[in-house]
Amino acid sequence: MNGVKVFAPATVANVAVGFDILGFAFDELADTVTVHRIDDPDPDQPVVLDGFRGADFEGDQDLPTEPRDNTATRALLAMVEDLGLSCGFRVQLEKGIPLGSGMGGSAASAVGAVVGANALLEGVLADAPLSRHQLLAYALAGEAAASGAAHGDNVAPCLFGGLCCFLPFDPPRVLQLPVPSGLTCVLVRPRMRLDTLAQRALLATEVPLDAYVRQSAHLAGFIAACYRDDLELLRAAMRDLVIAPQRGPSIPGFEQAGAAARDRGALGCSIAGSGPSLFAWVADPAQGRVVGDAMVGALQEHGTTADAWVGALSPQGARIEVTP
Ligand code: HSE
Repeated sequence: MNGVKVFAPATVANVAVGFDILGFAFDELADTVTVHRIDDPDPDQPVVLDGFRGADFEGDQDLPTEPRDNTATRALLAMVEDLGLSCGFRVQLEKGIPLGSGMGGSAASAVGAVVGANALLEGVLADAPLSRHQLLAYALAGEAAASGAAHGDNVAPCLFGGLCCFLPFDPPRVLQLPVPSGLTCVLVRPRMRLDTLAQRALLATEVPLDAYVRQSAHLAGFIAACYRDDLELLRAAMRDLVIAPQRGPSIPGFEQAGAAARDRGALGCSIAGSGPSLFAWVADPAQGRVVGDAMVGALQEHGTTADAWVGALSPQGARIEVTP
């Protein structure tokens, strides 16, 4: 086998209460990453991007193609260099996750690439395949190509699945949190793009002590609610007092979409990653479409056209689809 195709799900980072540390996987959108092994690589360019396509591309500049600038190839270069691999890799990207949407597209491409390459290491590396924990550092190196730093809040859920807490310790750790029963996600994407670096640059670098204390309580309540399967505690906990108030004005209709979601019973609603997508959690799958329509309607009233997807959190991370 020298080629594989990997399904790498969209992810929602921050999850209202855990800026840069919480994220979950969502299978309704995904990148597909095809990886082939090259047994006699060009030593100067062992990893090559062999094409990409995606429904919403607007121009040639949309995705960097230089191997060190593209998240998928940068992740594979980190893998080749760190493991001293004799082989290289050729990668094709099908971007099912809209660019600049806040749905973890850069992480999905990086994770898909390393999961694919890992499946092709038999006969090349004595202890192949590597564990997902071993792959984490390479995927993070890839994500850093896009966001300038190794945030793990999209990479971790894309790699491990479910609802993850990424702990940026040395070395980093990933904790998978229990997902409350019946929980359903509504993901709404305004048809606009926001740049993660710009959305980070607008954040104040200091948090008032009072906001720090209150936000810590919301994070603690959220994690306890997940372990206790306590939806009412979850509803009380899911509030972002620090980040969303600063980023919300970049998304016309954000406040109204959140209010519309909560009015129809959503447990919580906030910005997906750095936006502009929004997500809401509902307790009952039957509520999902109603909440999604209400959010889309509220955004539309503010001139923002949007699409909605409804589904459970994905228990799985990136996975091999078929052998091409
Ligand atoms: N947590 C990041 C942010 C996005 O909100 O800027 C993904 O890493």
